[in-house]
Amino acid sequence: MENKTKILIVGAEALPFAATGGLGDVLGSLPAALVREASDVDVRVVMPLYSRVGENFRALMEKVTEINVPLAWRNQYCGIYSLKKDGVIYYFIDNEYYFKRDGLYGFFDDGERYAFFSRAVMDMIPAIDFYPDVLHANDWQSALTVIYNKLYYKYPGMKTVYTIHNIEYQGKYDKFILGDVFDIKNEDMSIVEYDSCINLTKGAIVCCDRLTTVSERYSEEIKDPFFAHGLDGIIRANAGKLSGIVNGIDYDYYNPMSLENKFSASYHLFAGKSKSKNALREQLSLPADKDAPIMSMISRLASHKGFDLVKCVLNEALAESDMQFVLLGTGEKEYEYYFCELASAYPDRVRVLFEFNKELSKKIYAGSDLFLMPSKSEPCGLSQMIASRYATVPIVRETGGLYDTIKPFNPETLEGNGITFASYNAHDMLDAIRRALGIFKNVELRKRLVKNAATMDFSWNASARMYLNMYASL
Ligand code: GLC
Repeated sequence: MENKTKILIVGAEALPFAATGGLGDVLGSLPAALVREASDVDVRVVMPLYSRVGENFRALMEKVTEINVPLAWRNQYCGIYSLKKDGVIYYFIDNEYYFKRDGLYGFFDDGERYAFFSRAVMDMIPAIDFYPDVLHANDWQSALTVIYNKLYYKYPGMKTVYTIHNIEYQGKYDKFILGDVFDIKNEDMSIVEYDSCINLTKGAIVCCDRLTTVSERYSEEIKDPFFAHGLDGIIRANAGKLSGIVNGIDYDYYNPMSLENKFSASYHLFAGKSKSKNALREQLSLPADKDAPIMSMISRLASHKGFDLVKCVLNEALAESDMQFVLLGTGEKEYEYYFCELASAYPDRVRVLFEFNKELSKKIYAGSDLFLMPSKSEPCGLSQMIASRYATVPIVRETGGLYDTIKPFNPETLEGNGITFASYNAHDMLDAIRRALGIFKNVELRKRLVKNAATMDFSWNASARMYLNMYASL
């Protein structure tokens, strides 16, 4: 026990406890993958105890201790709860003033909430007597842990890793709150200052020992202003400690063998797919008598996910083909209106569901033929991997993790696991959809492509190894 390498992973969300997006998937599955890969690591995770965390989990938690956390002039209660899951201890930071809210983020005082969280994590270390060899922080909400350690706590021997899951969200604040909210001294302002603001991501990039992103391609892209949302200069200056490790997905959670119509790449693949497709059609009352392919999207309705392209040409793709289309997701109203109109223009071919629903998403992944993901930028992207796991062929734009995980299918060599297009251009996307529909008209090619997609290994195994090697190198 004593000789194990101690890793503390810090972040704002983790499945199955509370999540709003891909970060939650990663912090819910990477930790368990690390302990599966190596018996000599003690991996623990810490996140806030939101009101969203269900009673079922609360019932399993034990209260480890409680401490007072100072933050500038404040002194706040902090309960520390824990539970063990898949060989990993999860800690939950309790403070109802900050975390008993309807939702995870988007509050006027998010800066203060995550400053409290980060201070609580730093003060938790002695309180639970767990001094990590590596503290691994994720995204801006935990960026301050890396900054606090470098500036003030300086835990002996503790190295820090900072992972950028999406550089768009940086934690930017007015300079006036430096001392009052973040409890950072004026003389240390230069560490977190950027573009006349406080920028927590910038501070963590400067302070961490190793900087990672969630795919190799994205680690290159963010050196470029097109992708970096203003931080390209800082990324380039810190490129020496930057690397990219592609995410995996949870192969137990996303498992077509757990569906009612079980299948896998090697078990009733095509029969299982076609049963799942019929079941989906029945559930969504889509006409069943058609051979038509189903193309789906499961995504936050945000512009960087490529919805501007979709708005431009999806009508055309529907008009010229017999495909059916299913959308699941919530987000910007502009896109919801568009999809409502589309659904009324094609009442028996289009279904749009504005919700975040994990169980329904699995049925859509399993029952579709094609999965569209035309992101403008995509640090890693998990949906293309989940779709592949359910033998649904991804159509993606070649960016970030989409570029790293999906290789274009070549009808001559029969190699490749999806359909891709390069420029962020609506008609290039339309062309990719046409190519996909063309391939699906040819049974031999379709089967080969589906098989190629379904046999990809997007489990955590390889990437967990890479994280372990990176931790060890520190
Ligand atoms: C963010 C990124 C997404 C990535 C996920 C997990 O949500 O936008 O591309 O897959 O984080 O790292």
